[in-house]
Amino acid sequence: MLVSARSFAEYRAMFALTDRDLDPGRRILDCPAGAASFVAEAGRRGMDAVAVDREYAVHREELGLLVERETGFKRELLARETAGFTPSWYTDTDDLIRQWTANSRLFRADITARPERYVAGALPELPFPDASFDLVLSSHLVFSYGNRLGEEFHRAALLDLARVARREVRLFPLTVYDTGERYRGLERLREELAGAGIGSRVERVSYEFQPGDGEMLVLSCAGYRAPTGARPRAVADDPVRWRHREGARPQA
Ligand SMILES: C[S@@+](CC[C@H](N)C(=O)[O-])C[C@H]1O[C@@H](n2cnc3c(N)ncnc32)[C@H](O)[C@@H]1O
Repeated sequence: MLVSARSFAEYRAMFALTDRDLDPGRRILDCPAGAASFVAEAGRRGMDAVAVDREYAVHREELGLLVERETGFKRELLARETAGFTPSWYTDTDDLIRQWTANSRLFRADITARPERYVAGALPELPFPDASFDLVLSSHLVFSYGNRLGEEFHRAALLDLARVARREVRLFPLTVYDTGERYRGLERLREELAGAGIGSRVERVSYEFQPGDGEMLVLSCAGYRAPTGARPRAVADDPVRWRHREGARPQA
């Protein structure tokens, strides 16, 4: 799986984030963050954002370096895979590599300066108490790797993302990376989520990574309470102090 390094501006477009969404009083989770610079750039804007990724258990600062090496090394492969990309964000493969390299350098500087903002953890058992974040952003794992991660993983991952969100989870894209087609189990999963008290809607956004993938899924979590058995086995230390106590959700 490629570790990517998208920017704050890309997240803003991918998840249709408004100034209200980005209010410094709101706590945001980026899951999985990889070597993206969203949390680093959010920090510079005085925002309260946290990154979580499975890789942080193994690689931390060097993840940025790995992205630099990997994207350079895989240039030909990336060029083939991204041949149909919309030119609006990256003009060509070399531009993608340039942007990801710059973003991963911001990531590297921030994870060194503010290591407590980068938590090692994996879906579908995130190491956070229920309702820890106002907004949870999830890009390029769920649905994207739908050919490799089964529907059971998707169901459990969506429920765990909803568990840690007080208000909303936003996911992008809804398409499978290998095929460019919409994830087949999407409607079935949305019905199951609705049965658990999690509403959802699909919204168009002004960002495409692969042609035609400009849609995000929004989960409304304010009315959802995870069953006790779904709580994580281990909860991360809380060096940045969770402001939201378990179960302290706003009214739906
Ligand atoms: C393609 S990157 C996306 C990173 C970032 N959101 C972006 O758009 O630049 C996918 C990331 O998912 C992470 N990952 C894979 N499986 C995971 C899991 N079960 N839980 C958490 N992170 C996972 C990988 O380590 C990798 O960094």
